[in-house]
Amino acid sequence: MHAANIPAHIGIIMDGNGRWAKKRNQLRTQGHLEGLSRAKKIVKAASDMGIRYVTLYVFSTENWKRTAEEVSFIMGLVKQYLRSELAFFRENSIRIRHAGDMETLPPDIAGEIRDVCAATAGFPGLSVILALNYGGRNELVRAVKRILREQAEAEQITEDSIGLHLDNPDVPDPDLIIRTAGEFRTSNFLLWEAAYAEYYISDKLWPDWTEEDLAEALRAYGNRDRRFGGVRQ
Ligand code: IPE
Ligand code: IPE
Ligand code: MG
Repeated sequence: MHAANIPAHIGIIMDGNGRWAKKRNQLRTQGHLEGLSRAKKIVKAASDMGIRYVTLYVFSTENWKRTAEEVSFIMGLVKQYLRSELAFFRENSIRIRHAGDMETLPPDIAGEIRDVCAATAGFPGLSVILALNYGGRNELVRAVKRILREQAEAEQITEDSIGLHLDNPDVPDPDLIIRTAGEFRTSNFLLWEAAYAEYYISDKLWPDWTEEDLAEALRAYGNRDRRFGGVRQ
């Protein structure tokens, strides 16, 4: 693919873990386990392709509605993953970052995230942004609170000032948002940032997703005509 057509930033709504498990008469948790190993493969592929940023939707502000058992399984998985994959992040120069509400995460998970973000902060390769306890509306509310704490006047509020108070102001807006498992909705993912993202919906369930599916999504992206409201001359 022509380098100019490679998106700098991809967001992925990794959906369908539960359906994948159900199809196999397994527990939903098994789907999350499989989904995690898929995430690692896709991260490696994205890193090898020279993509700069990948935001993974790991857990939304609405996912607390699930059973306590499922929620604690996912949180445990995240904690274990962050600990055990430090060597993988180092080998591939992958930097881990976080988007979402740290204040309402269990303190041990928040601590683990802070540690891995600090340990990988200097890595110059792919940045993987974990959207964990993330909701687009929640992010905007927290951004507005930060602005008000700086005693901003109404006239000072601009698109740029809001953007600068989001969770990762230095990360460029996503060019491409991928959603697996066939649903056509944002589910509160990167509402502000995805204003001009291209969307790509795959029917495949996340645990079935492969590097080839990512390559296919990138090919489709390469053929889109991004006009940003303008007119192609
Ligand atoms: C996505 O898979 C993972 C999370 C939301 C944590 P789901 O668990 O939503 O799987 P489905 O949509 O029920 O199949
Ligand atoms: C979106 O998937 C959240 C994540 C993938 C983490 P959901 O399964 O929570 O979304 P809905 O409920 O189908 O909208
Ligand atoms: Mg789902």
